[in-house]
Amino acid sequence: MSSRTSQAGSLCSASTPAINLGVVELTTARLLLTPLDPDRDAQALHAAYRDPDVMRWWNTPVRLDVADTRRDLASGVAAEGARIWAVREAQEPVGLVGLLGDVDVPGLTWLLCKAAWGRGLMTEAAAAVVDHAFGALGLDRVEAWVDATNTRSLATARRIGLTERGRLAQRYPHREQPHESIVLGRARAAEPTPVLNVEVTLPVRDVAAALDLLRSVLGARTLYSVGEPASMVGVVFGPWSVGPCLRRMVVRLRRERISLPLPSNSPGVHENSCYDCQMDINWS
Ligand SMILES: CC(C)(COP(=O)(O)OP(=O)(O)OC[C@H]1O[C@@H](n2cnc3c(N)ncnc32)[C@H](O)[C@@H]1OP(=O)(O)O)[C@@H](O)C(=O)NCCC(=O)NCCS
Repeated sequence: MSSRTSQAGSLCSASTPAINLGVVELTTARLLLTPLDPDRDAQALHAAYRDPDVMRWWNTPVRLDVADTRRDLASGVAAEGARIWAVREAQEPVGLVGLLGDVDVPGLTWLLCKAAWGRGLMTEAAAAVVDHAFGALGLDRVEAWVDATNTRSLATARRIGLTERGRLAQRYPHREQPHESIVLGRARAAEPTPVLNVEVTLPVRDVAAALDLLRSVLGARTLYSVGEPASMVGVVFGPWSVGPCLRRMVVRLRRERISLPLPSNSPGVHENSCYDCQMDINWS
């Protein structure tokens, strides 16, 4: 039912009752969004769940049996806090859209049968769900986790105003390999630029020896070096200058401090201000 790992698999049996309480109908120019009813909607949505092109980025495998599709839908609907709609065009379900359950930050999920792609239907449906989330539901943010190769889904997310917040590695239970996911988000109210940069400073007695150790054990690369012989070296792990792992470690000869600029919406930090939070470390 979603693109998130936490939603993968089914916690419910095929007899799980359809729980989609408190979900109201929404209408758009071309669509009717009705509370998803796995019993009623599974047959139509099975056209998507049995299609490898649609399921390519989903967190469950292609479903060959409509009973498995129904169970997936029931599982998604039953998750705590989930609000899922069937997307109807001329009364017929052509997809689903909604907010995932069992997640900390409200997460969008969407899917269309392939015959419905390319006409802006999900842009229209998802925009209505986001309006509903920020309006009647009173949520202050929504996000979507999208496989970095899922260009259609990324385009839909951006069309409805979500912007990139970060990236993470995910592996779905039915896949052998992990993939890179882009986390896109939109807040109800404007927020300061969400950039948090942590640079860890590691004081050591012998910079050259520490660098050799980091190179041989962790595959560190040198970004820059200061002094001859070096008294400070910037290193990075991984093939890029930035990435999912530790970006930079500065190696000095003496006791140092970690500087942590906090975003201005952190608790206790005044609006429109940026503070340095410093921690002493003594690691030699
Ligand atoms: C993700 C998914 C729902 C997007 O479907 P989509 O039809 O491309 O999405 P949209 O509704 O945003 O429509 C955009 C397309 O309609 C076209 N379009 C036509 N009229 C439009 C309109 N009024 N508004 C916006 N787009 C319009 C756009 O040009 C675009 O087509 P293009 O990509 O060929 O240029 C669909 O690809 C899908 O179900 N994928 C499989 C499941 C999946 O990956 N889910 C997401 C997991 S994170």
